[in-house]
Amino acid sequence: MRIGIMTSGGDCPGLNAVIRGAVLNGIKSYGHEFVGFRDGWRGVKEADFFELQRSAVRGISKQGGTILGTSRTNAFEGEDGGAENIAAMLAKNNIDALIAIGGEGTLAGAQRLCEAGLPIVGVPKTIDNDLDATDYTFGFDTANQIAVEAIDRLRTTGDSHHRCMVAEVMGRHVGWIALHAGMASGAHAILIPEVSTSMDQICQWVNEAHERGRAPLVVVAEGFVPEGMEEAFSVRGLDTFGRARLGGIGEMLAPLLEERTGIETRATVLGHIQRGGVPTAFDRVLATRLGMASVDSVSEGAWGTMVALHGTKVNRIPLRAALNNLKRVPLERYNEASILFG
Ligand code: F6P
Repeated sequence: MRIGIMTSGGDCPGLNAVIRGAVLNGIKSYGHEFVGFRDGWRGVKEADFFELQRSAVRGISKQGGTILGTSRTNAFEGEDGGAENIAAMLAKNNIDALIAIGGEGTLAGAQRLCEAGLPIVGVPKTIDNDLDATDYTFGFDTANQIAVEAIDRLRTTGDSHHRCMVAEVMGRHVGWIALHAGMASGAHAILIPEVSTSMDQICQWVNEAHERGRAPLVVVAEGFVPEGMEEAFSVRGLDTFGRARLGGIGEMLAPLLEERTGIETRATVLGHIQRGGVPTAFDRVLATRLGMASVDSVSEGAWGTMVALHGTKVNRIPLRAALNNLKRVPLERYNEASILFG
């Protein structure tokens, strides 16, 4: 078979390990050939691809980003979009199947194309870890590691100046990075989109830490909304799906905390640093296994499915299972962490 691979949506450490796992398993186990589409659905719609030989994936599992490039292009928009055009493009270029590596938006596009009869399998990807159908997504562990290293640094400067430090991490709809990075770095308050928390409560945690002589540390997910207040949006406007870009909650909280507690406060937005650089060993292994399994799915014609991690096993599940629910932080996980606040 001749198989196309594409990476779409926000990039994520581990994408290259998926590509390598897929290509090596495909060549060694099945004798498949591969092409790589550039920049997600844009490359698919425009037939912008190159031959992915074994040499192209040599040593790439430790590299951040994606050798294929990515974009937030919609598969159904534009004159060249939609199932008919993409099916014709695949047929014209003798491409028998497509492996779509992406988050919720990408997998939703893949699912619609599969319903129209296209031969596609999915690989879930997001640093946010918000896909319900898989226990962990690759990229999440790396994002946490980066966030913890950065927050550890914020602590030493916070300690020196006796300041309250606010670290804003990614997490549009869910607070997994905030929860894990906050717990690992010993935060005095963790604020996540799933749990509406009042300014009074946040100030109480900050004051308690300060009274013990600590420099208070608040870790907040970008999608957090303080009780009774408006969501903070970035000045960068809307993304290509028309969703407001988040970011800014840290800068919004810092002056409020300073005003109410009298403790000098600084905010740092970790932003895209969390998505850059080399993946952790955990993410490399997970991504490699998912890439290898996606080629098994293609070889068995399991169109409309994606690979997912359940416990330590990589399973095959319907794509639509990934799209039904966001994996939110359960309240008991937040309550468990909150015992450590203040
Ligand atoms: O979905 C992953 C994510 O990193 C979110 O946490 C964040 O809101 C968004 O992508 C940022 O997207 P962009 O790269 O388009 O700024």
